[in-house]
Amino acid sequence: MLVIIKEDYDDMSKEAAKRVASLIRKKPDAVIGFATGGTPVGLYKELIRMHREEGLDFSKITTFNLDEYVGLPPEHPQSYHYFMWENLFKHVNVDPRNVHIPHGMAEDIDAFCEWYEAKIKEKGGIDLQILGIGANGHIAFNEPGSSLGSRTRIKTLTEKTRRDNARFFDNDIEKVPKYAITMGIGTIMEARELLLLASGENKADAIKATVEGPITAMVPATIMQMHRKAVLIIDKAAASKLSQIFTG
Ligand code: PGA
Repeated sequence: MLVIIKEDYDDMSKEAAKRVASLIRKKPDAVIGFATGGTPVGLYKELIRMHREEGLDFSKITTFNLDEYVGLPPEHPQSYHYFMWENLFKHVNVDPRNVHIPHGMAEDIDAFCEWYEAKIKEKGGIDLQILGIGANGHIAFNEPGSSLGSRTRIKTLTEKTRRDNARFFDNDIEKVPKYAITMGIGTIMEARELLLLASGENKADAIKATVEGPITAMVPATIMQMHRKAVLIIDKAAASKLSQIFTG
C-alpha cells in the first residue's frame, strides 16, 4: 500500500483530484468508481474546478457508485443519487447514460445486484475506485464481519453506521434507512486501483488497523493490504496513530 500523508483536508482533496484527473487525461474513457460521504466532497469540488478552468473532460468516462440506501428514491436529498448529481455530476460534462448508481427502489434487489455486477464487467471493470472509510473500518456499506469475497448485495447497516449518518437525517436515527445495496469487498478488490481518502482524528484508529493491523473481516478495509495498487491519501490527523511513518 502507498500511504500519502497530507497536511490537511484541502491538501488531501487536491492530491486525490490530481490522481483522478491524470487517469482521465491518460484514458478519457476510464471507468471510475465513485464514493459518497463527507470525505470526497473536497475532491469533487476540485474536479469541478479542473473541469471549468482546465477543461478536464468527463464526457467519455463511465461511473459506478459504491452503494445506495434501500428505500430512498433518487430525488430524496439523502439518496446517493442526489448526492452524486449535486456534488459532482451536474457540474461536469459526464454523460448521464454512463452513470451507474445502485437503485435503492429496485423491486427485485437480488436481480438488480447481479445486473450491476454484470454491467461492471461489460464496461471492462473499474480502473480506479475511490473509497472512504468508516470509523469502524467499513468500506462502502461492507460493515465489520462482511465476507472479504462478497459481491454486490443488500446489507443491514450497523447501529454505529446509522448513528454516524443520523446527522444527515435531522439527527434522527429512526429516519436513517436500515438497509443498503453495496458493492461487495470482492467487487471492490477487482478494481485496478483503489484510492482511499481519510481525514480527521476519528478515522485514525481505522487507518492504523488498515495499514498496520492484521487482515480481518472485522475491519473490512484491511483487505486492501492484498491489493496490488492501493493508495491511501490521508491527512495528518487520520495518520496520527500510525507507528511507522517514513518521510523522505
Ligand atoms: P465519511 O464516510 O466520508 O462521511 O466520513 C465514509 C464512510 O463511512 O465510508
